[in-house]
Amino acid sequence: MRNILLLSTACLLAATACQDDDSNTVPYNTLDGRPPLVVAHRGASGFLPEHTLEAYQLAIDQGADFIEQDLVLTKDSVLVCRHEPFLSGTTNVADLPQFTSRKTTKSLDGVPVNDWFASDFTLAEIKTMRAKQPMADRPQQYNGLYNIPTFQEVLNLVKAQTIAKRRIIGIYPETKHPTFHQNLGLPLTDKLMQALTAAGLNSRTAPVFVQSFEVGNLRAIRNQYRSTVKLVQLLDAADVDANGTLIMQAPNAQPYDFVVSGDSRTYLDLTTNAGLDFIKTYADGIGPWKPYVQPYRSTDMSLLPATNLISRAHSRGLLVHAYTFRNEPRYLLPAYGNDPINEYKNFYNLGLDGVFTDFTPAALDAKNFIPTKASAKSK
Ligand code: G3P
Ligand code: CA
Repeated sequence: MRNILLLSTACLLAATACQDDDSNTVPYNTLDGRPPLVVAHRGASGFLPEHTLEAYQLAIDQGADFIEQDLVLTKDSVLVCRHEPFLSGTTNVADLPQFTSRKTTKSLDGVPVNDWFASDFTLAEIKTMRAKQPMADRPQQYNGLYNIPTFQEVLNLVKAQTIAKRRIIGIYPETKHPTFHQNLGLPLTDKLMQALTAAGLNSRTAPVFVQSFEVGNLRAIRNQYRSTVKLVQLLDAADVDANGTLIMQAPNAQPYDFVVSGDSRTYLDLTTNAGLDFIKTYADGIGPWKPYVQPYRSTDMSLLPATNLISRAHSRGLLVHAYTFRNEPRYLLPAYGNDPINEYKNFYNLGLDGVFTDFTPAALDAKNFIPTKASAKSK
């Protein structure tokens, strides 16, 4: 047992060195020459209700490199894993009569939302709810079975599984709507940094990426908290137009803390050379929506030439982790012929450093087709 614990500790301290058992001696086209990371988006969310311990466990069993947690705070300031600060889409809260009166309207990044909010419930109350599948075309038979995990429970799971599986399992927490939480007096960033520090994961070498669609909280982690933990700036958009241009439209046009502070820069502005230079001052990577890398026309969904975002990010030492890869045909462009492996192959060819995927097995299968720098030269 002692040896296993030593292995775990050593790997956690030197994550990048231990991460890739399958690393090739010939470098890949990624920034660090290693195979791209497979990040289980909300756990194994293509199979089980998202952000449950069961979905995280399945993603670990499937072989994901990292598991992703979207984080919001309860009324008593406990970090729980939910994609939204409101609860009706992913829990049975609407079916619980004792909570009927808690439904309310709050402004979420400038948009009025009428729902039940995690910030109006204690953790004990949230633990009486059960998770459900938010997508109608995904398995519904697990609805009502699993509870809502705290971030601490996920940290405990990952620690135990790192020992059990004898491999690095990374975490990829996202601060959800930091300004919204700040306006409620709830310390989202503070709680995250406390949890990472207590778990021994607040360091450069820890298998952790902290991500956010807002900017201020990431800069604060680097500058005020003096943390060296790896940071990723997420990049959003409303849609693409007929020419494949990304549409910058609220609430997906700007980091909401920019809206509040009067900073006019959009996410698209953050992908210019000046924007990437700015991100490089505090972050280790960018997390763009896929069309920032591989555009397509909204009219016939046909592919356009790939952008040079990856090479411009790499030239600044920034990683690129794109979201979200999904197997269902309705998410696949015609060029991929209903085969999700073709989408991964395209992005892996372009040198992407990581994928947020609902379907870890497909992302791993596609790794068999990753080109290396040697094969690129021999073409
Ligand atoms: O965090 C990467 C990706 O998950 C961003 O989109 O909305 O699924 O959190 P979302
Ligand atoms: Ca996320």
